[in-house]
Amino acid sequence: MGKKVVVTGVPGVGKTTVINGAMERLAAEGIAYETVNFGTFMFEAARRENLVTDRDEMRKLGKDVQKRLQKEAAAGIAAMSGDANVIIDTHSSVKTPAGFLAGLPEWVLRELMPDIVVLVETDPDQILMRRLGDPSRTRDMEGSRAIAQHQEFNRAVAAAYAMYTGCTIKIVRNEDFLLEQGIDDLVSVLR
Ligand code: AP5
Repeated sequence: MGKKVVVTGVPGVGKTTVINGAMERLAAEGIAYETVNFGTFMFEAARRENLVTDRDEMRKLGKDVQKRLQKEAAAGIAAMSGDANVIIDTHSSVKTPAGFLAGLPEWVLRELMPDIVVLVETDPDQILMRRLGDPSRTRDMEGSRAIAQHQEFNRAVAAAYAMYTGCTIKIVRNEDFLLEQGIDDLVSVLR
């Protein structure tokens, strides 16, 4: 049975950047992993239904619609992942207009049963600057304090994921100028 590793972090913390670096390192060592982006699974379904035209619109959809898309994505990912080692790029929680929505509620955890949940974090000021420097995305306008609160909530809800599945929780720091250190930390749990 392969390892299932869920990698999470607030938008713009750099989780995809750290995952890509770790994948290159592991490929060089001959360790095979597949990566799956949970948001892309949801987005493809949402676009087919003409619900959104941009992935950043999804977190503004009604709560029940987001939950349905979430459930479909979890089932799709579980069906395709089989026995392979898989990294699932997603969110511990999603900030919606109605409040924080758990990224891995019980019906998602039951499908994925992760071995490890990784929280990619860094200082809120750095995340704010990364968001401002990325014109390709429609980021929510929020300050450092709100980003800090989102990171705190992500830790709290991750504790519930550990209680439910017995998975471990790994915190990986992805600080400015220290990307390689973040990649090293992620690689150490993926090996
Ligand atoms: P998703 O596609 O995951 O969106 P996101 O969180 O905004 O992810 P990004 O790829 O934009 O951010 P990132 O943290 O990966 O940062 P990146 O590496 O690009 O999700 C889209 C949507 O899907 C969600 O909004 C939600 O609606 C939905 N969704 C997903 N999962 C869900 C779930 N489980 N339940 C419900 N809904 C779900 O880096 C950002 C920038 O920082 C880049 O410019 C990069 O170069 C820079 N950077 C990175 N690291 C460093 C560093 N160390 N130093 C300096 N710059 C750095």
